Amino acid sequence: MPGIRGPPEYSREPPRHPILQINAKEPFNAEPPRGALVSSFITPVDLFYKRNHGPIPIVDDIERYSVSVCGLVKSSIQLTMADIKKLPKYNVTATLQCAGNRRTAMSKVRTVRGVGWDISALGNATWGGAKLSDVLELVGIPKLTEVTPYGGKHVEFVSVDMCKEEKGGPYKASIPLSQATNPAADVLLAYEMNGEVLNRDHGYPLRVVVPGVIGARSVKWLDSINIIAEECQGFFMQKDYKMFPPSVNWDNINWDTRKPQMDFPVQCAICSLEDVHVVNQGKVTVSGYAVSGGGRGIERVDISVDGGKTWVEADRCQKPGVPYSSDDLTSEKWAWVLFKADVEVPENAEIIAKAVDSAANVQPENVEVIWNLRGILNTSWHRVHVRSASPVTRSNL
Ligand code: MTE
Repeated sequence: MPGIRGPPEYSREPPRHPILQINAKEPFNAEPPRGALVSSFITPVDLFYKRNHGPIPIVDDIERYSVSVCGLVKSSIQLTMADIKKLPKYNVTATLQCAGNRRTAMSKVRTVRGVGWDISALGNATWGGAKLSDVLELVGIPKLTEVTPYGGKHVEFVSVDMCKEEKGGPYKASIPLSQATNPAADVLLAYEMNGEVLNRDHGYPLRVVVPGVIGARSVKWLDSINIIAEECQGFFMQKDYKMFPPSVNWDNINWDTRKPQMDFPVQCAICSLEDVHVVNQGKVTVSGYAVSGGGRGIERVDISVDGGKTWVEADRCQKPGVPYSSDDLTSEKWAWVLFKADVEVPENAEIIAKAVDSAANVQPENVEVIWNLRGILNTSWHRVHVRSASPVTRSNL
């Protein structure tokens, strides 16, 4: 692709914030510390998790960069950044969450394959760009199309990064055409993140953002958009990011039995406390994030300080001073909700958070029942243990 290339090695990686916890160096995978994650509704770009499968692409000449829109269309087109910026610009606030978020906790049940993540493989940003539904109109595909006259039913996004899993080929993924052509689905070709030009780690110069869907479908460093008949046959659609039952292992797996994961389920986690947290007095602030896929809001976040015997409801908030309601048109339907509760904790308590979304879906109680060999979608109740500081520890303070 002219103007942009995926290098074969890691000598030209961008600088990253030193606060990030690095889960894998090459490819670079990192997340912010728990406490930093929910210090604001919008996650600063530097603190936003970074999930890569190869070296970060290099833009040699932005003037020569273009994206092709091709496949089962009457005639293909090439769009430069100037062409894309001529289309109406939308700002969509959406939480991107990696399907592997909270994998480390799942791996404690039984070994899973994949990069280990604590609870911060997600972030909430305002993405600026053109709607994919407007771009597809340029090749003659009207809004709300399920199938084109040429048999196109899926929209595939192909990148330029060189991924080991694709045997050195680019990362790719697809979404259904019905979602791509639905303006209300807010699928973007984004060139801005939080009002700034997208940076290299997050897909400069152009990435896809598919709100409410696992991060794996939001392809970075976009090279081409293909209208295809079947869903993308790439590794990350067919041999990864599928949810299997606990009985499936590496000896009996049949990848074809499951569909690629799209929407993410309801999720929440406590960010103000570490897994084993030592406190000096009985009062503790429990705060964190809750989010659901498919544009579903957060109806409730329940907190327990006695291992799940009794519960109190946490306060939910998106914007300071504006009451949050899960079905309100003023709420950001693709964005996370921050929650907070001040609770009195007994000695040696287990604190739990669980969220309920606007469709009354609730997180599963235990990770064991959703264990899967790739360690994806750990949405079990989030638990932290609180211990009182011993007198010796106190006198040392
Ligand atoms: N796009 C490309 N080209 N290469 C990748 O490795 N990773 C995907 C997705 N898009 C990936 C990609 C995954 S698994 C996730 S979770 C998100 O990008 C992460 O986006 P971020 O690094 O901007 O947080």
